[in-house]
Amino acid sequence: MGSTLAGTAGTESGADHAETLIRTEDLHKYYQLGDNRVHALRGISLQIARGEFIAVMGASGSGKSTFMNILGCLDQPSSGRYLLENIDVSTLGKKQLASIRNRKIGFVFQGFNLLARTTALENAELPAFYARVAPEERVRRATKALEMVGLADRMDHFPSQLSGGQQQRVAIARALVNAPSILLADEPTGNLDSRTSVEVMEILQNLNQERGLTIVLVTHEPDIANFCKRAVVFRDGRIKKDEPIANRSIAAEVLKNLPAIEDEE
Ligand SMILES: Nc1ncnc2c1ncn2[C@@H]1O[C@H](COP(=O)(O)OP(=O)(O)OP(=O)(O)O)[C@@H](O)[C@H]1O
Ligand SMILES: [Mg+2]
Repeated sequence: MGSTLAGTAGTESGADHAETLIRTEDLHKYYQLGDNRVHALRGISLQIARGEFIAVMGASGSGKSTFMNILGCLDQPSSGRYLLENIDVSTLGKKQLASIRNRKIGFVFQGFNLLARTTALENAELPAFYARVAPEERVRRATKALEMVGLADRMDHFPSQLSGGQQQRVAIARALVNAPSILLADEPTGNLDSRTSVEVMEILQNLNQERGLTIVLVTHEPDIANFCKRAVVFRDGRIKKDEPIANRSIAAEVLKNLPAIEDEE
């Protein structure tokens, strides 16, 4: 395995043979816009071990989403290699990429991206539908995923009947329904108030701690990054800093000291 950056974090849960889940080697990404060429990633080499919880930070335009899109197999690098569970993803065609994406990657976005006329349960089922999972099994998995995020009593609600935090929890359940290898979240708390943000981070911390789920999360907020285990900071398409988070916050503890949202009864 060698001494890897990944080895510095993510070993908290006892596994010191931290298995490499993701390895990128000198990734570059160019966008061509007319005569203009944007060099969005300028040599990103990073390893992520199973069980890590990484905050990706950096100024607007530094390449965070570009990097996440490549990790998520939504886009291909212009050069460099990307290995996901030892599969060289950078050589795959569109169809194979879509299949890997569907089976191995869960996505959570800032804007939740739920289907409006579809219940929480049906939203959570969707990736399993695309993976051609049989209907009964789909319902079973989506029900379990919604239970994991604390929404057992909201399965039949439509997105408009849910709070922002609840909608984001449906999105997390949806991301988990195919039991992915990794959860990618691009500013998942960007549209949420501060207490709700911590509640979402509590769910992510539980999934990471109790189920060993590997998570990579983009955030602008140091307070949110502080719930993760390792911080990777981008600057102008390069990694400027990569270090373990020293005094990690525990969301469940933080919530105890935050005023509860008043009950309207
Ligand atoms: N589809 C695209 N076509 C052309 N240029 C792009 C495209 N997507 C991103 N870029 C450019 O690539 C650079 C990196 O963008 P990226 O979206 O990865 O930044 P970011 O770190 O996610 O920023 P933010 O914090 O604002 O979300 C920026 O200069 C951006 O303008
Ligand atoms: Mg972005």
